[in-house]
Amino acid sequence: MAGAGAGVAERSEDRPARATIGPDCVGLSGVPAGELRRVLTRARELRRQPEPSLVGRTVATVFFEDSTRTRTSFAIAAQRLGAQVVDLSGKASSANKGETLLDTGRVIEAMGVSAIVLRTGEAGAAATLARELACGVVNAGDGRHEHPTQALADALALDDHWNGSDGSFGFAGKRVLIVGDVVSSRVARSNAAALKTLGAEVVLVGPPLMVPGTLGEALGCRVSHDLDAELPHADGVMMLRIQFERGAGALLGSAREFRAGWGLTADRAARLRSDAAVLHPGPTNRGVEIDPEVADSPRSLILRQVAAGVGVRMAVLEACAG
Ligand code: ASP
Ligand code: CP
Repeated sequence: MAGAGAGVAERSEDRPARATIGPDCVGLSGVPAGELRRVLTRARELRRQPEPSLVGRTVATVFFEDSTRTRTSFAIAAQRLGAQVVDLSGKASSANKGETLLDTGRVIEAMGVSAIVLRTGEAGAAATLARELACGVVNAGDGRHEHPTQALADALALDDHWNGSDGSFGFAGKRVLIVGDVVSSRVARSNAAALKTLGAEVVLVGPPLMVPGTLGEALGCRVSHDLDAELPHADGVMMLRIQFERGAGALLGSAREFRAGWGLTADRAARLRSDAAVLHPGPTNRGVEIDPEVADSPRSLILRQVAAGVGVRMAVLEACAG
C-alpha cells in the first residue's frame, strides 16, 4: 500500500498485478505482444507529432548510476509532452546520509511528482518502489535485471529498419544475436523478452562464462559459443558492452582476447547479410566489442536506437505519468 501522509496519494487496490506498461514500467518480461505494440505504435506517433499530454505534471529522474542517453532522453521526452522535469543525482542525494531508497521515493512523491524514473544498481528496486508508491515508477535500468525502455527503443529502431515506418512490429522469421557480456546485461534481458514476444528468434552468443547455458534456459533462448558460425544467419546483431562495473572483468582474459573471440570486427561484419542490422545500446567501447568502422557503418542502428529512445520514453511517460 502507498505510504500515508500529506500529499501522498493512495495506490489503487485494483492496480494490475500482471506485467504492464502503465501505470508503472518495471520490466518487459511477461508484457503481452498487444501491449508492446500499443506502446510502440504510440511512440511512433509521438515521435512524428508530440502532444501536450503531460502539461501540469512533474517527472523526477532519479539516477544512482551514470547515464548519458537514458537520463537525457527521459528529460527531453517529458519536456516534449509539456511536463516539468526535476533531476536528482543519486550520488548527490541524502542516500549518502543513510536514507533508504524507499524513503527517497516517498519524499519525492510527497512533493507532488507524477512519475519517478529510477536508475539503480539494485535489481528489483524499481518494482519495490512501484509496489509502495502511488505515483508512476519507470525503470531506467536496475542492476542486471531489466532496462525496458532501452529494449522498446531497440524494437522501434528494428521495426523501422525491417518493416518501414508504417510497420506493425511483427518480427516473425527474424533472428537476432545478442552478443558478449550477456550475464551482466539488463539490456539483454529486456530485449530477449520483448523480441521473443514480438516473434523474433533470439540467440545469446558469447564465451561460456558470460553466456552460461542456464541463462539461456532462464530466458528461453538458444545459446551459442560460436559467433562466426552464427553471423551469416542473423537479421540483427546486438553487441553488448563488458560491464566492468558489475565485475565482468573477472569473466574475461583481456579486452584484446575478447575482441579476437567475440568482438564485431570489420572482418566479421563483412560476413553478415547485406541487410543485417548492427545494434548496440551504448556506451560503446570501440575496439573492444565493436570496431569503430562497424559502429559508424550504414548498417549500424546505434544512433537510430538513441533517437527511438525519445519517442519510446514519451509513450512510456504518457502511460505512467498521465
Ligand atoms: N547503458 C546500458 C545500461 O545502462 C548498457 C551499458 O551500460 O552497457 O544498461
Ligand atoms: N543505453 C543506455 O542506457 O545508456 P546510458 O547508460 O548512457 O543511459
